[in-house]
Parts: sequence; C-alpha cells; structure tokens
Amino acid sequence: MTTAAAPALNPLAEAANAAIAKDCPAILAMLSERGKRFFFPAKGILAQGAEAKQKAKVANATVGIATEGGQPMHLACVHKYYNGITPAEAYDYAPSYGKPDLRQAWAKKQREETPSLGSHPTSLPVVTNALTHGLAVVGDLFLDPGDIALSSDLMWENYNLSWETRLGARIVTYSFFDSKLTGFNITAFTQALAQHQGRKLVVALNFPNNPSGYTPTRAEAGAIVNALTAAAQAGTRLVVVVDDAYYGMFFDEACLSESIFGKLAQAHENLLAVKVDGGTKEAFIWGVRVGCVTFGIKNGTKPVYDALEQKTAGIVRAVISNVTAAGQSIVLKALNDPDFRRQQGEKVALLKNRAAATRAECYKPEFADCWDVYPFNSGYFMCLRLKGAKAEDVRVKLLDAHGVGTIALGVSDLRVAFSCLTEAQIPGVFVAIAAAVRDVRGK
Ligand SMILES: Cc1ncc(COP(=O)(O)O)c(C=O)c1O
Repeated sequence: MTTAAAPALNPLAEAANAAIAKDCPAILAMLSERGKRFFFPAKGILAQGAEAKQKAKVANATVGIATEGGQPMHLACVHKYYNGITPAEAYDYAPSYGKPDLRQAWAKKQREETPSLGSHPTSLPVVTNALTHGLAVVGDLFLDPGDIALSSDLMWENYNLSWETRLGARIVTYSFFDSKLTGFNITAFTQALAQHQGRKLVVALNFPNNPSGYTPTRAEAGAIVNALTAAAQAGTRLVVVVDDAYYGMFFDEACLSESIFGKLAQAHENLLAVKVDGGTKEAFIWGVRVGCVTFGIKNGTKPVYDALEQKTAGIVRAVISNVTAAGQSIVLKALNDPDFRRQQGEKVALLKNRAAATRAECYKPEFADCWDVYPFNSGYFMCLRLKGAKAEDVRVKLLDAHGVGTIALGVSDLRVAFSCLTEAQIPGVFVAIAAAVRDVRGK
C-alpha cells in the first residue's frame, strides 16, 4: 500500500509562511496544518478580474456575472425589494476579503471603540458570513485534530460543533464563575492555562458571555490579560479568540466596556489575539450575516498581517467564495449613517431596561429555594442554576404547562433571553419558572 504524500505547499503559502516566520515565528507554530497550507490565490481568476476592473477600459470579459447597461443584470421582481441600494451594491460579487470600504469602516469603528488599542497596528478585518463563520475560519487556521481549545464551562454550544465535531479539536473547560457566584473565576482560569504551559493553546473569551450574560469587571479583565500574558511569557503559544458577538450591550458601570482584544493585541509575542465580531447582535441584523475576523499581536508587522489576511480570505474563497454583497453594502451604509449610534443606543437602552426588570424579579427571596442566579450585567441572556430539578424537565414543564420557552443547558442551568421579553412579561416568566421547578421537584 502506498501512502499519498502531502501535496507540496503552493509558493504563495510558502511566501506567507516565510513572512510570518521572519517577524512573528510563534504564529507559525500556532497555525494548523491547514492554516500553513492556505494562501489567497492572488494570481488566479479573482486577481485577473480585479486587474481588469482597473485597466479594461474597452471591454471586460473576465467576471462571472452578467451585465447590462453597465450594471449587473437583474430582475425587476427582485430589485423592487431593495430600497436605496444599487444593483451593483446588491448583486455584484464582493471580494473574498470583504468590501474594501466596509473593511476600512469596520476597522475605524473597532479602533474608536477600543481606546486601549491606541495606535498599535492590527490586521484589517476580513469579512466573514457573520460570527459563526468567523469562528469556523479561525478554527480552520489554528486547530488540528487533537489540539486543545480552552473555554469557560458556560459557553455557546456551537463551539463544540465547529471545533470539536467538525475539526476534531478538543474543548477543555474551566469554571466561569467562582463557587459563590460572585464573579469571574480567575483562579480556575489561571490553573487551566498552567496545565498547557509550553504548548499551543487556543483560548476562547466571550464577553458578554452567552449564556450567562456576564462581562468581567475592569479589574477582572486586567487579571485575565495578566494571566494570559504570564502564560505567554512562560512559553505557551496562545491564540486568544475574542468572541465579541454581544459587544456594546453593557448594563453596568463596573463592566469592562471595551473589547479585551485591545490589550491582548499588544500583550506578548507568544499571544495572537483574534477578534471575531460583526453586525449580527450589535446592529440587530441577525439574518443579514456580516461579521469580521481581525488579528493583533505585539510584534505584528504589515507583512505578517497581510499573510494572515491572505490565509483567512483564502479559506473564505475556498468554502463560500465571498460574503453577501447586499449585506455588506447595508452594513457599510449603516456605519456611515449619522443616526447609527443614536438608534443603536436606543435599542441597547431598551435591553438595559429589560435586564433591570429581570434583576428585580430573579433575586426575589421567594425564589431562593428554586435557583441561584449566575451574575449578569450585559448581553442578551441571564442564566439560572436550578435547585433540585433537572433543567430539561423544567424546560419541558414550562413549555407544556405555562407556554414559556427557555433553554436548558447541561444538567441544571436554564437560560432566559430577556432580550426577547417585554418588561411586562418578565415577572410572569419567573413566577412560571418557579412553579415549574416546584412542580418537577414535587414540592
Ligand atoms: C457567543 C456567540 N458567538 C457567536 C455567535 C454567532 O453569531 P452569528 O449569528 O453572527 O453567526 C453567537 C450567536 O448566538 C453567540 O452567542
């Protein structure tokens, strides 16, 4: 039996790897085998098409779309649904990297919102099909089968599907909260980091957290940055994935109100920070599917960031080719709209009121026998640790007997999305949960 030899690296992958090896050798050791192989086909159809777009003044016969009257051919029965967006903005292909104007506008937004980043250079954002796809691409770049990704025990379940089921990596967890449920469990986090000292480790940080709705305080965030920096100093090669899905939904003065990416992006040569963010929750456009992946590292240089962007865009090209042009055009217009911040602020204020109404109910002494409340101060959710009843049994009882939908997580956690409850609904929801817990428990 002969074993097939691994295909030779494409010269463009070799060039990208060489650029990384020269300025940031630790990153080369973080890349997965797939990550090392990937490159952007800069000399292929896309590049030839881009060149023709600039220079083919007489006739452009490169692009795989159809044109008519100087714009993308289109049907009136489709276009009548697009208001204020041109056929080119809606139907033309976007580059695999994302629309250049959107990438610039998103980078500007990130920097404005992340003062701690200062003038430290990062890559430009590469546009993904929202955050799920961004996380998947990051997994593709950095996770080989058997590699370890560290996450809090309270985490979004899709990490498992994407990184474990799809890529064969292994997620290990630490306990997100301390045992008294007062805040972030820095001891557990630091111990978990120590167990992988000297190796490569992907670490997922998600604040505001799904499912708990917790963002660390500024002091806790400082301790997280220090723990990661110390681990990098001790030789662990860290890829820290900052999942900022719920960025901006902060309801408490004490929470860190900027992305932890700002500090991590300049923390250490052994620590590559990867910001995964997007319009999904921030701009309330869940089904539009526009997100971004952005890299930052202490000694990051333009050639290194170019190489990482190329590899990222190469994976986008290989799997989905490019992200919805209409969606990107809409997000760009929204970012440039003078009303964007005000309108976004109004919606966040609504969510903040719902969080306050939730807080007023869930801690009531009459429910103390039914649950502990995980700390929450941000995001869309809060989570209860039920007492004496299985979360799945309570979920089913709540649905069948009370018509209230919640999410059961693990054995005893119940997630409540206050983001989709009116303030008026909130008291009744907690009364119903308590009734369901007592019913399931039999007292
Ligand atoms: C923590 C977290 N990350 C990422 C995502 C994915 O977001 P998107 O819809 O942009 O793929 C979600 C969505 O629920 C989430 O809760």
